[in-house]
Amino acid sequence: SVVVLDFGGQYNQLITRRIRELNVYSELLPPTVTADEIKAMNVKGIVFSGGPNSVYGEGSPKVDPAIFELGIPILGICYGMQLMAHHYDAKVERAAVREYGKAMIEVRSDAVLYKDQPTKQQVWMSHSDLVLAPPNGFQVDASTDHAPVAAMSDSERKLYAVQFHPEVNHSIYGQDMLKNFLYEVCGCKGLWTMGSYVDEAIAEIRAQVGDKKVLCALSGGVDSSVAAVLVHRAIGDNLTCMFVDHGLLRKNEAELVMQTFTQEFKMNVVKIDAKERFLGRLAGVTDPERKRKIIGEEFIRVFEEESKKLGHFDFLAQGTLYTDIVESGTATAATIKSHHNVGGLPEDMQFKLVEPLKTLFKDEVRALGTELGIADDIVWRQPFPGPGLAIRIIGEVTEDKLELLKEADWVVRDEIKRSGLDRKIWQYFAALPDIKSVGVMGDERTYAYTIGIRAVTSKDGMTADWARIPYDVLERLSTRLVNEVPNVNRIVYDITSKPPATIEWE
Ligand code: XMP
Repeated sequence: SVVVLDFGGQYNQLITRRIRELNVYSELLPPTVTADEIKAMNVKGIVFSGGPNSVYGEGSPKVDPAIFELGIPILGICYGMQLMAHHYDAKVERAAVREYGKAMIEVRSDAVLYKDQPTKQQVWMSHSDLVLAPPNGFQVDASTDHAPVAAMSDSERKLYAVQFHPEVNHSIYGQDMLKNFLYEVCGCKGLWTMGSYVDEAIAEIRAQVGDKKVLCALSGGVDSSVAAVLVHRAIGDNLTCMFVDHGLLRKNEAELVMQTFTQEFKMNVVKIDAKERFLGRLAGVTDPERKRKIIGEEFIRVFEEESKKLGHFDFLAQGTLYTDIVESGTATAATIKSHHNVGGLPEDMQFKLVEPLKTLFKDEVRALGTELGIADDIVWRQPFPGPGLAIRIIGEVTEDKLELLKEADWVVRDEIKRSGLDRKIWQYFAALPDIKSVGVMGDERTYAYTIGIRAVTSKDGMTADWARIPYDVLERLSTRLVNEVPNVNRIVYDITSKPPATIEWE
């Protein structure tokens, strides 16, 4: 593998990901890792990432100097380059002209990183410090108008460094540079695939868990599903999954989850039917935040009560992703993070965590799920909020409204899928506002519900734009919803982006 030492730059997670795209396994390590630890990991190459600090700044991250003596190839990127220059006594200075954004470099050497690439090429710069002259033994590989040393190397010692960001798409030949570093300098063969990830992950889970028992809260979402199947491959029936059906799931969803995991994968899944409990506590509640809170608390109670009945477990398996760890800003702690399950599990539950997806991105988890043989229906599932349909029913959640919304949501999903838009739209669903209006059907006056169609495109759910669904698809949606869902006579399409709206209606 090739390890990336994390100095805090915004693109660091991208670097590991680009390396994995080149079929070399890569993960991010804290900068405090020692040369001995790296040696023990048998890595083929090391990347020093970018970061916000100046090498002269107080408390700026440094590396164990012995890492430079390991004889393992190193690629320094941005701050990583400055760190390398500083280690070898070259001068790093605040740049007279800071460079942010696109820049043209001129390649000035025949260093292997730039093999078969044009001399003049566009890269992505984002820095305020500069290396003015290369350290002894290094040659200048590239420069820009403002940076005399935009790249440098010492091929004898296999040390390479670039001031720009090859991991960003705007660096047009960036991926070729990384490829040359991995294949030509580090001698990687590019044999890593999701399949080999499965083998490694299984070995790791077995080593961590031994013959102890593991519990997993299965929601049917992509992450918990893939984590559960992977852990099951590793330890078989020592894994018990708990699936809490709060009655707020979409049509056929509980059945799909149970069938997939008990019949296809022969896993031990305990389904808890808690619909009555949840609906009971939601009766008469209209405030969105109250609804969320009630559902979160009730989930914890159900989980605690029911897991006790199942016996003793030492470990809890979770589908934590790399992005979850980054967002929560902590190293994997022994307590359970709140954003993961419905409302979060209590912090004082003393489980050790098994988190086999924590180095992966969402789309890599999807690839892994496919590799494990999980059906597209689950692997390509759109995001679904923990509180479920309760936050898509404006006002009080009743059994009748729940049934109505389940039907409407099913029609929306079915029609979007038939139209071939299901993988183009990030999220699409029906919402049930607390509105009745007048209509006319078959010469008769009706007074019935309105359905709101919500469909958005997004990268991560943080911001979103309303999807430009073709009019003919909207027309079919309108007709089908009124015809197929009883007690509905009006359809509206939500054309607000996020911000100012949110994706969900509550
Ligand atoms: P909003 O409505 O905040 O939603 O724009 C952004 C994304 O998050 C999902 N969402 C949730 N997911 N628990 C979850 O697991 C929640 O309480 C929750 N609320 C919103 C939403 O579906 C969208 O993808």
